[in-house]
Amino acid sequence: MAKGRTQFVCQNCGTAHSRWVGKCEGCGEWNTVVEEDPMGGIGSGPGKVPKKGRPVALTALSGEIEEAPRIHTGIAELDRATGGGFVRGSAVLIGGDPGIGKSTLLMQAAAALSRHGHRIIYVSGEEAVAQVRLRAQRLQAHQTDVLLAAETNVEDILATIGEGKRPDLVIIDSIQTLWSDTAEAAPGTVTQVRTGVQAMIRFAKQTGAAMVLVGHVTKEGQIAGPRVVEHMVDAVLYFEGDRGHHYRILRTVKNRFGPTDEIGVFEMSDKGLREVSNPSELFLGERNEKAPGAVVFAGMEGTRPVLVEVQALVAPTSLGTPRRAVVGWDSARLSMILAVLEAHCGVRLGQHDVYLNVAGGYRISEPAADLAVASALVSSLAGLALPADCVYFGEVSLSGAIRPVAHTAQRLKEAEKLGFSQALLPAGSAELPKGTGSRWSEIEGLPDLVARIAGSKSALKREDEDV
Ligand code: TYD
Ligand code: MG
Repeated sequence: MAKGRTQFVCQNCGTAHSRWVGKCEGCGEWNTVVEEDPMGGIGSGPGKVPKKGRPVALTALSGEIEEAPRIHTGIAELDRATGGGFVRGSAVLIGGDPGIGKSTLLMQAAAALSRHGHRIIYVSGEEAVAQVRLRAQRLQAHQTDVLLAAETNVEDILATIGEGKRPDLVIIDSIQTLWSDTAEAAPGTVTQVRTGVQAMIRFAKQTGAAMVLVGHVTKEGQIAGPRVVEHMVDAVLYFEGDRGHHYRILRTVKNRFGPTDEIGVFEMSDKGLREVSNPSELFLGERNEKAPGAVVFAGMEGTRPVLVEVQALVAPTSLGTPRRAVVGWDSARLSMILAVLEAHCGVRLGQHDVYLNVAGGYRISEPAADLAVASALVSSLAGLALPADCVYFGEVSLSGAIRPVAHTAQRLKEAEKLGFSQALLPAGSAELPKGTGSRWSEIEGLPDLVARIAGSKSALKREDEDV
């Protein structure tokens, strides 16, 4: 190799370095930098002469569109998250904490597909055949025609799944166990995982089989190993949940063939995962309606409304610096709401600890929760419980104004369906449903909210100053 030609590329994030370094400057990962020949390109072995390119036919944007051919599992929550089923010839990565239920979900999907006559191959690199059989028995999946292999070598897996009739779906559990003879790195390294995943994706594209890859997630919540894997696959789903709770959420973060904001909700039982078709009922299940600081937020997950309880506890601090603890929401967003309350509503929280929790271990990612959070905070500070039959949603801006959010009608419809007869929402919200018996109150700014909850702004301030 000519001098000056080589570069050192991080296998995790793709950053190129001029010399070898132990820690990548791009992503901070250790031992991910490898020497590469920039002229070689991905997949080209040493000594290959670049072949002369052949021109391909250019075409117009308009024209026939073929629907991606899909395989429906019949598990509605899974089909919803994948955007209507697994796409043939595509690769899906399912990430999640160890023990969250990835293998359980995929075994159930495999069994369901097999019952519909599809050829499914389940390759387990983590568990022995006996263990997988035991799980299958527990899930009532053992009477199906799912084919099973316990193997980790990429070449052997390719030879196995390439033999005989083409499989409709191949499950690789997990990518962290894959290792190839062609990659000169120890099993489990970034290079090995990347090589293995690349080989599996190539198989899917060539044969038209759908490929499902399982990946573990690190403490930071990323799929362990190369982040480039997320770029290589067609869809990335995360299977999340709280160990202390039974329900699990399958969340789409990338999907080349469908929407990326859908979720599938499941409940882990002793017979595997059960679909939860109405998540709001689950999240509101254990509600204490008379507690100050508890507010129901009418949220949206993709096309689906989800009602969830937001709980706040505001208490005088005994520390020099008051504590701010958040579970299930963005802590920067909480700081913003506290600052707006302080600056525009005269609610002083500098001497108070603030704890915010989203019930059931659920995680909210919408700014529309601002109004619900602010209401919970003010309610807890004032020690006044809010009406139990009211839902809240709206985005708070830095000026203290409350801005309308999308899907007003859907949020209100779901709230009515679950027995809520009041709602507090931003002024100027479009698409308000008409002719219903419920009361929708529109609100313009955060000071109005504080006044509404505490009766008057001064009542709140006085309580604050007593401390
Ligand atoms: P598993 O699918 O092995 O998780 P992962 O592949 O993500 O590591 O599921 C592990 C947990 O699920 C384990 O703690 C046991 C529990 N479980 C049930 O509660 N019910 C069941 O029917 C099954 C199969 C597992
Ligand atoms: Mg597993």
